[in-house]
Amino acid sequence: MENWKLRQATWKDKELLYEWRNDFASRSASFHQQEISMTEHESWLERKLSDSVSSIYILEINNEPVGQARLDRNSGVAHISYSIGGRFRGQGYGKLLLQLLEDEAAKESLVLVGQVKKDNVASQVIFQSLGYEERETEEFFEYRKTARNVLLKQTDVLRGGNPPHQ
Ligand SMILES: CC(C)(COP(=O)(O)OP(=O)(O)OC[C@H]1O[C@@H](n2cnc3c(N)ncnc32)[C@H](O)[C@@H]1OP(=O)(O)O)[C@@H](O)C(=O)NCCC(=O)NCCS
Repeated sequence: MENWKLRQATWKDKELLYEWRNDFASRSASFHQQEISMTEHESWLERKLSDSVSSIYILEINNEPVGQARLDRNSGVAHISYSIGGRFRGQGYGKLLLQLLEDEAAKESLVLVGQVKKDNVASQVIFQSLGYEERETEEFFEYRKTARNVLLKQTDVLRGGNPPHQ
């Protein structure tokens, strides 16, 4: 049976986050597509980990890291970036990650915003299935939602548990 946990990223996740950042599908889905060097990544990660407006989380399934999500806050609004590692895609973990992220954001009553490229159907399906309001622009779909406690309490997040059937 699968056991999941959402935890804060640390400096020890540097290599993993670097690998996921430079992954082809992740770069294609991103609005900043160029490959980055480890040196650039290190200074970026150092900045993000010490910046109180940003939080990076790692989703673990059976103690194995499978994906990451980041919140960048600005005046009560938090922009979401997220990805699932290549070999873990197609198993519903993207949705689980956003559900757990929303629970975290609900503690601060954040308004969550995700911008998704028009060819990224999997991510559109995930935001839609979680009840985000959709707005179409010329270049992307924007999803917006006030974070609610949809899934778990903090104690459950720390303890881990089984993915919900939602
Ligand atoms: C986008 C991403 C996070 C999705 O995570 P995932 O766990 O692999 O998602 P899944 O493959 O389980 O797909 C999610 C849903 O989209 C559906 N879907 C996927 N591709 C689809 C397609 N081409 N057409 C229609 N539906 C599709 C799946 O069936 C699933 O729906 P379901 O839950 O109703 O079965 C992952 O592919 C990823 O990391 N991509 C690269 C980075 C990225 O795109 N990040 C998001 C930026 S906004």
